[in-house]
Amino acid sequence: MPRIAVAEGDGIGKEVIPVARRVLETVRPDLEFFPVEVGYGRWERTGDAITSDEIQVMKHADAVLFGAVTTPPDPDYRSVVVRMRKELDLYANVRPVRGEGVDLVIVRENTEGLYAGIEDIGPERATSLRVITRAGSERIARFACTLAKGRRHLTIGHKANVLKADTLFRDVCLRVAREMDVPCTEKFIDALCLDVLRKPGNYDVIVTENMFGDILSDVAAYLVGGLGMLPSANIGNRSALFEPVHGSAPSHAGKNTANPIAAIRCAAMLLGHLGDLKNADRIEEAIGKALDAGVKTGDLGGSATTAEMGDAVISVLMR
Ligand code: NAI
Ligand code: MG
Repeated sequence: MPRIAVAEGDGIGKEVIPVARRVLETVRPDLEFFPVEVGYGRWERTGDAITSDEIQVMKHADAVLFGAVTTPPDPDYRSVVVRMRKELDLYANVRPVRGEGVDLVIVRENTEGLYAGIEDIGPERATSLRVITRAGSERIARFACTLAKGRRHLTIGHKANVLKADTLFRDVCLRVAREMDVPCTEKFIDALCLDVLRKPGNYDVIVTENMFGDILSDVAAYLVGGLGMLPSANIGNRSALFEPVHGSAPSHAGKNTANPIAAIRCAAMLLGHLGDLKNADRIEEAIGKALDAGVKTGDLGGSATTAEMGDAVISVLMR
């Protein structure tokens, strides 16, 4: 019986994750769920946003379903997301962007770069160190090439014309693609952000370092109806965590107005990861049918609530 740790987190995480869980319960009544409390709300209540207890529960689960957490701009607050990615060694962040005329996957390195947390803040000067290692580049390149092998081709997004660290990232990716016989091109990340919007059909799998992939995926969300639509997987050798690309969206929190589709798609990716491709496809299809029937939340121009959007997907699944 697969064991799923569920961390709703803060804000709309508390609304969209229960919908995703209901979808999972509909197609897979055999799953076992373990709630874990993490996030800013918990920090306010207890002084800890996450402890090693939650990390242990996540480590022992077959997969983690995660909502989003609020991160205050407080230099003393340690990011829950960064800690989870580090401690579970979730090195690959996979962000599929699918919609009309768009079918691409952003593979973002998840443990290095500017988000590695090597930072120093002084009264007159603050620094965040951007570290790219050969080993880190090699494993994300292999991950992206393995994915691209079953698809079409690979694009490396980087800024090697300005950043020395990116020449290492680019060279490792080019070599791995050659070794694995994956058709590969490269593009400067700024130009790539524009081109992906103009000619999304030219892209298939895109590999980037940490922050560039974070930014590029929000940019690419524009192609498919916004952040409410995009799921992601964080994959390591022993753990896997599925979370919407969006954050806790405080302006929607507690209003039952957030779009739950990104979270529902996370449920589909989670099942795919557990090897249940049939139900993963069924969920994607049900989302398409619910949208085609005109059920849409406000961000997509409709008036459905979070719960109604979820009900519409579930009723297609129960047909
Ligand atoms: P956000 O993704 O929460 O919201 C950005 C915009 O997209 C807002 O206008 C929001 O209303 C809209 N939006 C996002 N998801 C939506 C949904 N499901 N349905 C409808 N509209 C949606 O990003 P923002 O505002 O930059 O950050 C808010 C908080 O979330 C911050 O505390 C931030 O640190 C945190 N955050 C957490 C993440 C995580 O847990 N992985 C990722 C990104 C942000
Ligand atoms: Mg982001």
